[in-house]
Amino acid sequence: DDAAGEERFLELITSDSRVEPTDWMPEAYRKTLVRQISQHAHSEIIGMQPEGNWITRAPSLKRKAILMAKVQDEAGHGLYLYSAAQTLGTDRDTMFEQLITGAAKYSSIFNYLTPTWADMGSIGWLVDGAAICNQVPLCRASYGPYARAMVRICKEESFHQRQGFEILLALMNGSESQRAMAQESVNRWYAPALMMFGPPDADSPNSRQSMDWKIKRFSNDELRQRFVDMLVPQAEALGVTLPDPDLKWNEERGHYDFGELDWSEFYDVLKGNGQANAVRLNTRRAAHEGGAWVREAARAYADKQAAAAAD
Ligand code: 3HC
Repeated sequence: DDAAGEERFLELITSDSRVEPTDWMPEAYRKTLVRQISQHAHSEIIGMQPEGNWITRAPSLKRKAILMAKVQDEAGHGLYLYSAAQTLGTDRDTMFEQLITGAAKYSSIFNYLTPTWADMGSIGWLVDGAAICNQVPLCRASYGPYARAMVRICKEESFHQRQGFEILLALMNGSESQRAMAQESVNRWYAPALMMFGPPDADSPNSRQSMDWKIKRFSNDELRQRFVDMLVPQAEALGVTLPDPDLKWNEERGHYDFGELDWSEFYDVLKGNGQANAVRLNTRRAAHEGGAWVREAARAYADKQAAAAAD
């Protein structure tokens, strides 16, 4: 019954064990997981677009092969995450529908355009770097299927981050105009990457409860600080400047201080007014509609197999 289920659920959380799909769980826990996991899945699927945009224009065969592998990984991440969300009782068609009608959120970061090749470097270094910072603690999330999906995803994200760093390193070792291209791109991606961690703790309605449930292990601001601290030495190694005049080491705190972010831009992007919100959704919708015949064929085949088995 519910009382025994609740007691067992609290015991699992307190003892840092994993909650599994067949365990009793509070409705609000289920709901917040579906919300977070489906938003995460959508981010991976929409996140294929800014880089997919460069596959045909990658500057060499090697770069093209690496970029294709990375974009395919993102499709895979989206699929594991949809599967994890499905174990909570929400089916994939419902989640797809929420995405293509614009009802669902996905990460703000994928609503920025990628006008230069250096953006492939910045996405790998900054966007995937932020993703790793945020996602490594999710490997210990209290919900088993989510935590397990995150383990594999994080391994692949590390490769993504390294390949981005390496693109920027090659540009920084190149001509003056290549160095300028790298710096200009880092200037555009730095602040949006910091915003990926979500609003400041004081404006984050879900953090407290998600941390009590051990879905999130650190707050948005804690992870953002960790990310900035990690970036500074890497920027030095690259020879790029991080575009924040207030960025400086704070001896007392043992962390870098950094400037206030423009949160009005973040909320504007969430409202649908980013550079590419409309492009991203239209492309996704067209791909979904274009794939209708595949779904129909698969269904017809499954029906035929089922009928044959029933004979
Ligand atoms: N973009 C869009 N929406 C965001 C956001 C962002 N960067 N940050 C926060 N939000 C939304 C939240 O989803 C929430 O909206 P909702 O209540 O309508 O669902 C609202 O803003 C308030 O934020 P909270 O801090 O209260 O929300 P959370 O506790 O859920 O924390 C989060 C936000 C840190 C992003 C958390 O959901 C999380 O850790 N999610 C998993 C990671 C993830 O989704 N990453 C996606 C980008 S990385 C990626 O896709 C990899 C790449 O390689 C493709």
